[in-house]
Amino acid sequence: MAQPTRTTGQGLGAVTRGRLLFGGDYNPEQWPPETWPEDVRLMREAGVTIATVGVFSWATLEPRPGAREFGWLDTVMDLLHDAGIGVCLATPTASPPPWLGARHPETLPRDEHGSVVWYGSRNHFCASSPAYRDHARRITEDVARRYGSHPALRLWHVNNEYGTACWCDTTARHFRTWLRQRYGSLAALNEAWGTAFWSQRYDDWDEIIPPRRAQYLINPTQSLDFRRFTSDALLECFTAERDIVAAHSPHVPVTTNFMPLFAGLDGWRWAAEEDVVSVDVYPDPAVAHDDPAGPAHGALVQDLTRSQARGPWLLMEQAASAVNWRPVNRPKDPGQLRLWSLQAVARGADAVCFFQWRASRQGSEKFHSAMLPHAGEHSRAFRRVRELGADLAGLSEVAGTEVTADVAVLHDWHAWWASQQPGRPSAALDHARLLAAWHQALWEENLTCDLAHPEDDLSRYRVVVVPHLYLLTDASLDRLTAHVHGGGTLVCGFFTGVADADDRIREGGVDARLRRLLGLTRVEEWWPLGEGETVHLDDGTSASLWAEDLEPAETTETVAAYADGPLAGRPAVTRASAGRGAAWYVSTLPERPALRALLARAAHAAGVRPVLPGLPPGLEAVRRGQSLFLLNHRPEQVTVPLHHPHTDLLTGHVHAAEVTLDRHGVAVLTPTPTPPQKESRTCDEGVSSP
Ligand code: GLA
Repeated sequence: MAQPTRTTGQGLGAVTRGRLLFGGDYNPEQWPPETWPEDVRLMREAGVTIATVGVFSWATLEPRPGAREFGWLDTVMDLLHDAGIGVCLATPTASPPPWLGARHPETLPRDEHGSVVWYGSRNHFCASSPAYRDHARRITEDVARRYGSHPALRLWHVNNEYGTACWCDTTARHFRTWLRQRYGSLAALNEAWGTAFWSQRYDDWDEIIPPRRAQYLINPTQSLDFRRFTSDALLECFTAERDIVAAHSPHVPVTTNFMPLFAGLDGWRWAAEEDVVSVDVYPDPAVAHDDPAGPAHGALVQDLTRSQARGPWLLMEQAASAVNWRPVNRPKDPGQLRLWSLQAVARGADAVCFFQWRASRQGSEKFHSAMLPHAGEHSRAFRRVRELGADLAGLSEVAGTEVTADVAVLHDWHAWWASQQPGRPSAALDHARLLAAWHQALWEENLTCDLAHPEDDLSRYRVVVVPHLYLLTDASLDRLTAHVHGGGTLVCGFFTGVADADDRIREGGVDARLRRLLGLTRVEEWWPLGEGETVHLDDGTSASLWAEDLEPAETTETVAAYADGPLAGRPAVTRASAGRGAAWYVSTLPERPALRALLARAAHAAGVRPVLPGLPPGLEAVRRGQSLFLLNHRPEQVTVPLHHPHTDLLTGHVHAAEVTLDRHGVAVLTPTPTPPQKESRTCDEGVSSP
């Protein structure tokens, strides 16, 4: 799998300059100029170090074709610079002005039905449109030329949350070019797509179209290739703008902000094209405290982003409190903002930024919270923002440090896309939800994990976890085999290794190499479960969603068997030895505590220990560099014993024997130097030095 290849600038260190960044999207064009000095004053009060400017400024910068209105941005850049605030400057190409759509309707995307997606909102561009690309190139060029050497400029932010797909005729032509490159010949395409089925054989490239609205199920490989193509077409837009800004300021790194765990882009491929990886994270504050889905989701996105970045990354956007796009938008509890922000830092973020600085009074997001809320500078919400700025300023020694993991959770967008096709054994099977369920089990056990692409070199991990990868390439299967044969542990979830890269079912239903590794002679039949249906296992636990009729090899151990239902007595969870390693197979979705226990057991057998043992679920522990982050997501106060004195970087307090965390409490502990002890204790006995 591609490694990050970009080394234009000095990377993230050039942006952060040794401290954690704090700031947010700043949209001064929505406000009269008299507001700007007040913005800057309050930013300084809050400890803001970076402002993201210009994300949606195209129509202000270019009010009519070819016009340039840079005066306001000159003033804003200078104001910020004079206040010591760095600028993350956006290319404004996410939201083309109405004149572009009106004069060049071919720049507007069309949906699967062929309907135009009109302007009047944002993100209304067809990535394949030459007119869009040309206008985006010109405004990017002029912005980059004008501000490329501005002293406030720290980071380029290209576009915003790429993700618009299009099914128009221009896209169709572009798709054909992409397919020619992938397959070389129509015969190869027909073979890969299995067009002998339902009389779908193509005789001419021009017959091929994007998977538009059709009478019944669309060819799944055509749909899969279209997802691949769409990601690549958008990536061409990103790299074109990236190269323009980089040419004007070779030492300024470039990023684009990802949506969290977003299905539309191949996040591994994209991250490899960025200097710095950034993401927007919006966990739901409405989750109950005995169901920590909010922070667990945050942790998943943060671990994924750190893995994409292969090191520290930027939290480009989060909400200060409520968002405005859920059916019910609950504000964050007091304390949740700090807790979740520091969770991102614990998991590798070198910046904590927001959408947005000042709450809008007009437009579609006027009910979205902001650092500076409608209630103003004397509000409790703004006080919390200021306090967070002060906390981050005290954590400079964390900036740039690494989080290390012995466990890798495998994730691949192509497998996700292939698994999203209709016509499968169960429509309830959801790649992202399975990924989240397995990750949450590890998170609750405080087993730090990276995410990895299945074609990555996995040799640095002791345990590799595959929640669900319906599609596995030959190269991935080689990696998994090498991992287990080399002494690693694999824990593999159900309905994995079923299809090849063309979404063709592997011979035998599951790839023979994987079956060999897992010690399975055959998977006889898939046995999806109905909504709300559970099965019991003979270890006293229950499971849902899916079951399988397995035929294990003679030497394979049955860890747990189905205890009731049509598969009663058949193996549900198995363990096999292969080479020097071990491979577990989990043919169903265990209930939450059972999945946790299973992963803890497999990790323990592989010699992998939690960051701290014995912590209750929801008390999160992460080591980053020399610092141990303790984050309390539980509803009650928790006391953690310490076996060495530790200093809390947030408060400066030295904790000799224990640290108590209130609800939403956080401690960032570093070992306090002490005279040598006679007897040293191990990590298993409590908090010890990293
Ligand atoms: C995304 C966008 C922002 C804003 C927020 C609202 O992250 O990038 O412009 O719309 O969502 O939550």
